[in-house]
Amino acid sequence: MERTLILFKPDCVQRRLVGRLLARFEDKGLNVIAMKMMRVTPKLAKRHYAEHVEKDWYPQLEAFITGGPIVAAIVEGLEVIRVVRNMVGATNGLNADAGTIRGDYSSSRQMNLVHASDGPEAAAREIDIFFKEQEICEYEPTIRPWLRAVDEN
Ligand code: CDP
Ligand code: MG
Repeated sequence: MERTLILFKPDCVQRRLVGRLLARFEDKGLNVIAMKMMRVTPKLAKRHYAEHVEKDWYPQLEAFITGGPIVAAIVEGLEVIRVVRNMVGATNGLNADAGTIRGDYSSSRQMNLVHASDGPEAAAREIDIFFKEQEICEYEPTIRPWLRAVDEN
């Protein structure tokens, strides 16, 4: 079982899309095990986007991600990091496939609604940045027997 970090970015909150987009992950059968609304500070933005801090577009990204509240969540499931990245789609909404979140709801390279960890190392690092261990509420969904066969776990 894997975990990934999902951020519903400020554009997602402002456009009232958090519920609709969270529902996509719930509908997929993934397990939401932590969630909170918060404001990203410039310091937190630099930590989360460490790989991008030196890019010439980073100042605009920081202004965007700190510009309004976000909702952060941890989602758990089999191969969830790849599954969620596929559901989110390509970075630029103009290039993202129809049927993906960014393909269906974004027409922007920056305002692409949702962040999702891009690999196991990033997921572990980002979960640690956004959540304390006590904020994670792991549970066994009672519907599990109707989500996949016993030998798929
Ligand atoms: O989010 P993803 O991993 O798909 O893309 P990224 O290349 O890691 O970039 C992180 C975020 O920076 C993107 O999701 C965009 O919101 C933003 N970005 C930007 O503002 N301008 C760019 N030229 C590229 C990315
Ligand atoms: Mg990335």
